[in-house]
Amino acid sequence: MAKNLITGGLGFIGFHLSNLLLEQGEEVTIFDVAAGSPLYRDINDKVTLIRGDVSNWSQVLDAVRTSGADCIYHAGAMLPPGTEQNPQAAFNINVNGTYNVLEAARMFDVKSVMFLSTLATFGRDVPSIVPNDAAQHPLNMYGVTKVCCERLGEFYQRRYGVNFRGVRLTPILGMGRVDSAQSAYIYKSGQEAAIGRPYSIYVETDTSIAVLYVKDAAWGLYDLKNAPEEKLSTRIYNLYGMTATGQGIHDAVMKAVPAARIDFQPDAKQIQLVHNLPEKLDDAAARNDWGWAPRYSLDEAVADFVKDIRSRPDIYA
Ligand SMILES: NC(=O)c1ccc[n+]([C@@H]2O[C@H](COP(=O)([O-])OP(=O)(O)OC[C@H]3O[C@@H](n4cnc5c(N)ncnc54)[C@H](O)[C@@H]3O)[C@@H](O)[C@H]2O)c1
Repeated sequence: MAKNLITGGLGFIGFHLSNLLLEQGEEVTIFDVAAGSPLYRDINDKVTLIRGDVSNWSQVLDAVRTSGADCIYHAGAMLPPGTEQNPQAAFNINVNGTYNVLEAARMFDVKSVMFLSTLATFGRDVPSIVPNDAAQHPLNMYGVTKVCCERLGEFYQRRYGVNFRGVRLTPILGMGRVDSAQSAYIYKSGQEAAIGRPYSIYVETDTSIAVLYVKDAAWGLYDLKNAPEEKLSTRIYNLYGMTATGQGIHDAVMKAVPAARIDFQPDAKQIQLVHNLPEKLDDAAARNDWGWAPRYSLDEAVADFVKDIRSRPDIYA
């Protein structure tokens, strides 16, 4: 049975990835700085939790050794706005944390290291559909740390043969996301509607943003991990789901929750931050090399997300 270690596994994507791996009959150990998560109520006894900090070398070493993992999904990270408020902590957690994971993988011959990167590694100096190998000049500390990690992972693959693979994700929608980064409206609109609270979308109706459903992100990681080595033309793949306008998100939520109370209260500062993000990633490499294709449209994603939230009112009480 495949043994997985998910750093940051108590978080939003880690939870959906845990579910997917358990459904596939695989073992899951979580390494997280947090003590627990209400998301895990129904699968708590199916996973092993090791509490620790990815920036702490001995804790990472110990977790990789005791888990006996043959695959590490490295999701543990600091995200915006925390990264921008405290860039030094962001470097320590994101870059040193990834170095610790790669070193431990090298020392214990872990078969695969899967990395979660982001479209925020690209600045505004890229084509409107961002190629997989576009120059990366990120505008924020979060993106800077993730570019460092991508290059570090590639180095470990070339120099030591560590099977490092990664995906660049666009902003993610799904149950359990809690951060307040610039893309928060893509999940808060559906979340607040599902639990019967009003919500104001802080971008314009025609502001566009790239969106991926969290279950597609989990499948992307899983499928890339299982792709034959000889099919891979790169170590890091853009994953793209769809581009949605503020109006498109509003309409998808109204379809899933007809009684939703959503309006628009545009905030120029937030809109500028959204404009800093590329709207489309070229995911041809992922499609061609290992058959990537998102399973959910925007309407399907929002409907599934709303259903998930309504099945877990305890999380939002
Ligand atoms: N959510 C998105 O839209 C998105 C988009 C692109 C990439 N990503 C990447 O996906 C990964 C997971 O993101 P998420 O949305 O699940 O975020 P999240 O904040 O929900 O989860 C992150 C988890 O990491 C843990 N963590 C933080 N610092 C840690 C440390 N020092 N040691 C161990 N654990 C630590 C947190 O406790 C949390 O459980 C991150 O690497 C993130 O950069 C997320």
